Amino acid sequence: MMEIKNKIFWCGIKDWELRTFHGHELSTHRGSTYNSYLIKDKKTVLVDTVWSPYKEEFVEALEKDVEIKNIDMIVINHIEPDHGGSLDYLMSLKPETPIYCTRNGAEIIRKHFHKEWNFVIVKTGDTVNIGEYDLVFIEMPMIHWPDSMMTYVKGAAAVLSNDAFGQHFAAYSLFNDELDECELYQEAIKYYANILTPFSPLIKKKVEQIKALNLPIEMIAPAHGVIWRENPMQIVEKYYQWAQDYNEGHAVLIYDTMYEATKSMAYAIAEGLEIQGIKCKLFNASISDQSDLLTEIFKAKAILIGSCTVNNTVLRSISALLEEIKAHKFKGKAGAGFGSYGWSGEAPRIINRLLEESGFRILLEPLSFKYTPTAEELKQCRDFGERFAVSMNG
Ligand code: FEO
Repeated sequence: MMEIKNKIFWCGIKDWELRTFHGHELSTHRGSTYNSYLIKDKKTVLVDTVWSPYKEEFVEALEKDVEIKNIDMIVINHIEPDHGGSLDYLMSLKPETPIYCTRNGAEIIRKHFHKEWNFVIVKTGDTVNIGEYDLVFIEMPMIHWPDSMMTYVKGAAAVLSNDAFGQHFAAYSLFNDELDECELYQEAIKYYANILTPFSPLIKKKVEQIKALNLPIEMIAPAHGVIWRENPMQIVEKYYQWAQDYNEGHAVLIYDTMYEATKSMAYAIAEGLEIQGIKCKLFNASISDQSDLLTEIFKAKAILIGSCTVNNTVLRSISALLEEIKAHKFKGKAGAGFGSYGWSGEAPRIINRLLEESGFRILLEPLSFKYTPTAEELKQCRDFGERFAVSMNG
């Protein structure tokens, strides 16, 4: 247990081994943490718990430090099992403990655990005095679950923000000012890109609402990863940028290929983009991490997706990626498809159609060539890249 601010203690778990999250949906190359906080004011308050595989270790540490019988109230900012998974075990030791949560939170807790506990339903602005400090609750519905909220510890100027502003990042320090900023931001943007992008319009509004409150904020302590202690508002400002059609100006080419024909088209298109001054990155989707690809798409101004045609459609890795792209509701990006084929040749048209349905501005008709492209056809790929670059900047 570590005191992170006067009377506020971190009592979470560092999961150094975690390599996938949400089952196996999201890659977590640097592990993660489940941050739970204990406030030892006149009242002893536990804010969030940890994922259920760690429930015994978590509760044992609390028992040694404060004893479960002395916890006066539990705040559940968000009941997804990575934060609420230990609640059942904890409550079995003191079942009358009041649980402060949103109305949606209580409903989801009931659905997860099939128990009726002492729920205290809170709304934005509700305040509870716990001694020197007040807890002020701020609902954040659909950032990223219906129950999500954050807790502001008035008097300590600390925000316990749950998933918001977090990262899947197990590190040797809990504080941003003691860590490599580059690693921290790689994980923070990956977290946003993969988990929060679909909710960007809500996040923009919520950040505006929080800034308008003009609260003194000296620390933002999320439920995953590192605590923002030095210049904590930097991550709020980043979220504001990320929530508004974010891109870094470059193009990303993502392809899958059977006999390198589509790959050779990708490299020739990239040459054309570069001739016109557009920086680009290339990825073979079938050997790339899908969560990292989504982060790359989030950062790109435009994407070009290539697949050869097999059984009248795109290759599997491209099909899965296009589904993910649609679900992430990226905004303000451009795209186009390309690929080689043997006889039917539907893949590039499918790519353009699905990108268009996902809200991408389609800059060019799809480009396709039969079997292995000739030198002349590769030149046409370079021209395609150049025309794409011109439209991208147009
Ligand atoms: Fe980290 Fe939405 O749970």
